[in-house]
Amino acid sequence: MSFPKNFLWGGATSAAQYEGAYDAGGRGKSHMDYIRRIPKEDKDKTFPINVTYDMFLDHEAHEEEYNFAFRRGSDFYHHYKEDIALLGEMGFKTFRMSISWSRLFPTGMEEEPLADGVAFYHDVFRECHKYGIEPLVTMIHYDIPIHLTKTLNGWEDPRMVEYFVRYTKFLIDEYKDEVHYWITFNEINMVMNSPYLGGGLFTERSGRSRESCIHQALHHMLIASARTVKYYHETAKNGMIGNMIARLQNYPYTCKSADVLATQQQSQFNYFPTDIQVKGQYPKFILNYYQKNDIVIDWYPDHENILKEGCVDFASISYYHTAVISTDPDKAEPIGAFVRNLTNPYNQVTDWGWGIDPTGLRITLNDMHDRYNIPIFVVENGLGAHDTLEADGSVHDPYRIAYLKAHIEAMGEAIDDGVEVLGYTPWGCIDLVSCGDCQMTKRYGFVYVDADDEGNGTYQRYRKDSFYWYQKVIETNGEVL
Ligand code: BG6
Repeated sequence: MSFPKNFLWGGATSAAQYEGAYDAGGRGKSHMDYIRRIPKEDKDKTFPINVTYDMFLDHEAHEEEYNFAFRRGSDFYHHYKEDIALLGEMGFKTFRMSISWSRLFPTGMEEEPLADGVAFYHDVFRECHKYGIEPLVTMIHYDIPIHLTKTLNGWEDPRMVEYFVRYTKFLIDEYKDEVHYWITFNEINMVMNSPYLGGGLFTERSGRSRESCIHQALHHMLIASARTVKYYHETAKNGMIGNMIARLQNYPYTCKSADVLATQQQSQFNYFPTDIQVKGQYPKFILNYYQKNDIVIDWYPDHENILKEGCVDFASISYYHTAVISTDPDKAEPIGAFVRNLTNPYNQVTDWGWGIDPTGLRITLNDMHDRYNIPIFVVENGLGAHDTLEADGSVHDPYRIAYLKAHIEAMGEAIDDGVEVLGYTPWGCIDLVSCGDCQMTKRYGFVYVDADDEGNGTYQRYRKDSFYWYQKVIETNGEVL
């Protein structure tokens, strides 16, 4: 197992979950600033995945009382020098972060960005380069200026494309000499699972069916991504720009052909945004699916050419878990186009019920390589776990080391199989607020941040055991795991 010489070892974060300082320098609020943590015992398990308009109105009316953890993040905004120094100490080659749209354009509609926001990201990039770290920048990691969600219903409205492209053109013009790796949208496919989180949508406020609203939004996101990619290729010749999906690698529960077919269909659904972003056109199966299911899209003018001209340079994924798919009515209820995923009895699960499957990463990387034949970047992977900060400031996290080691091995094997992998950026390299649970105490990091779910704590940083382990992995280019 040997990793390429220039393999980009690093870690990943997002502005909304990490930056905090939600109102510094005139920053506008994002739609994630209105997601709050509700203990699982009080609410439907899928919260905050299912934010509705009523919930949002309630949150807006109780700004002062509720616990909005994304507003605090891990306070990277005030700790960025110290944090990047820690990444440098681990030997990071790259650091995945995202830019907060509303830190630059508070409502998303301004013509000119805020000077403080612009300067902040220059400072961050400068600090990264001081340690030889290449920033890998996601242009949008979910967080949409709340004004655009309120007034346009997020990505359902075609005007979002114009506002977003104005924003991304600015990013490219301003930062292209400091940033050589870009991702347009984080997990673009998540809008199908979580319309509010992924697309700033209140589907119940839309004049269309839920599915039409979601796929309309996704269409606009794909157009906005393609226009950004095209502009990047025209104006910046010194880097790469990619897409990203949450990759869901699933297996049939049995070898019954119906289960195999359902698994294949689920996989087509999972891949189709990447199909479009890599190949430049909608696959036939999804157009047929729209027709059969009365999904009506207002196609963006000249969309076919825009998509063709905006193909990405690399494909990226988050990869955390796998599941199994059954068509047996006693085992699973079909949900729309999807079939409910079941836990794979051969996998161990995390404390949050995610099935751990390193070999699945090798399978997925090979599958994507066969399908797209372009470089792949694993930009998220990791274990969310409860950690304990000891009295002497140490954190012993052998479970995290075991998880990451097994996944790095599987990735190395995929590279030996012939897959071109650009790099690996495990999620939440410094602890941050979890997205699905709005929890600080679901931790992924090599660095512990002293804060709890309510925001109590010093926010001081502590190196975990995995910090020293990963430092060695990078130093030996994956030879010592
Ligand atoms: C990915 C997201 O889906 O999963 C991240 O891009 C998120 O934003 C990560 O944090 C892990 O999920 P969670 O719910 O454990 O934070």
